[in-house]
Amino acid sequence: MRISPKMKKALNDQVALEGLASSSYLAMASWCEVTGYKGAADYFYAQSDEERTHMIKIIHFLNDIGATATIPAIKAPTATYKSLEGLVKTALKNEQTVTKAIHKMVEIAQKEKDHSTYAFLEWFVNEQVQEETKFETILQKFDLIGRDKIAVNEIDKILAAEAASPEEPMA
Ligand SMILES: [Fe+2]
Ligand SMILES: [Fe+2]
Repeated sequence: MRISPKMKKALNDQVALEGLASSSYLAMASWCEVTGYKGAADYFYAQSDEERTHMIKIIHFLNDIGATATIPAIKAPTATYKSLEGLVKTALKNEQTVTKAIHKMVEIAQKEKDHSTYAFLEWFVNEQVQEETKFETILQKFDLIGRDKIAVNEIDKILAAEAASPEEPMA
């Protein structure tokens, strides 16, 4: 089966975007670790791994259909954050950018009647709903529990529990 050059480029761009997300969450995890947010660190290390599996999923798809994936250079992510809440806000923004890119690819697939790529992308469409909800739920905790040291420590504990038993299996 063949995909158009446009579709191939979009998928390769998505490989880069998932790689950037993985790298960005790795930097977040590291910042959390040195700042003393052990739970959040575990959470974002796991999140970084998850994004890497997304990247590899697309690489496999491209290679399977004979389009050949391009392994991108990844630019250095932001390394420091003002607060844990600010960090999670950045994570949500990342996810919103990824969602937009995936929806764009779905539109290309639809337009080109590329049913194989369309079917492949369905998993990502659903995944993004979960990803955005995940970070929105964490952000809600700051409103519900608070932003002082005790509250943030409590949120860190919640993230530790989440990291220890993720709701859905890492795909
Ligand atoms: Fe992803
Ligand atoms: Fe994600």
